[in-house]
Amino acid sequence: MYKLLIGFVCFSAATGIAHAFLLGDAENGEQLHRKNCQGCHAQRFGDDGSEIYTRPNHSVKTIEGLMGQVEFCNKQISLGLKDDDINDLVLYLNDNFYKFE
Ligand code: HEC
Repeated sequence: MYKLLIGFVCFSAATGIAHAFLLGDAENGEQLHRKNCQGCHAQRFGDDGSEIYTRPNHSVKTIEGLMGQVEFCNKQISLGLKDDDINDLVLYLNDNFYKFE
């Protein structure tokens, strides 16, 4: 019974994340990205900066890694984005560049 309960809690948590993720607003993510993120990446990588995500040796390899990286950048540049905004940014970056399942 105890094990069953743990299994259930983990399962709910996992589907909760996937669900929130799918319900994100990629358009809000795109706007946040243009405003807060793109300029600096473009300065370093040229053009629109998207090469930072698509270069062969890019560092983000998993969806969890992407979430972590966006949260890290958010703290690093003291943007103070809310969880919803971080979620939208992750969705936008994944839809357009990383395409993790
Ligand atoms: C002040 C400059 C700057 C700003 C602003 C900035 N970044 Fe970055 N970002 C970097 C640098 C530098 C790297 C690492 C480049 C490297 O690994 O060589 C990076 C790496 C990344 C990566 C990993 C790319 C990979 O290798 O797969 C992601 C994702 C990312 N940034 C997202 C964001 C997001 C989202 C924002 C806005 C909330 C943001 N960054 C704002 C400078 C910046």
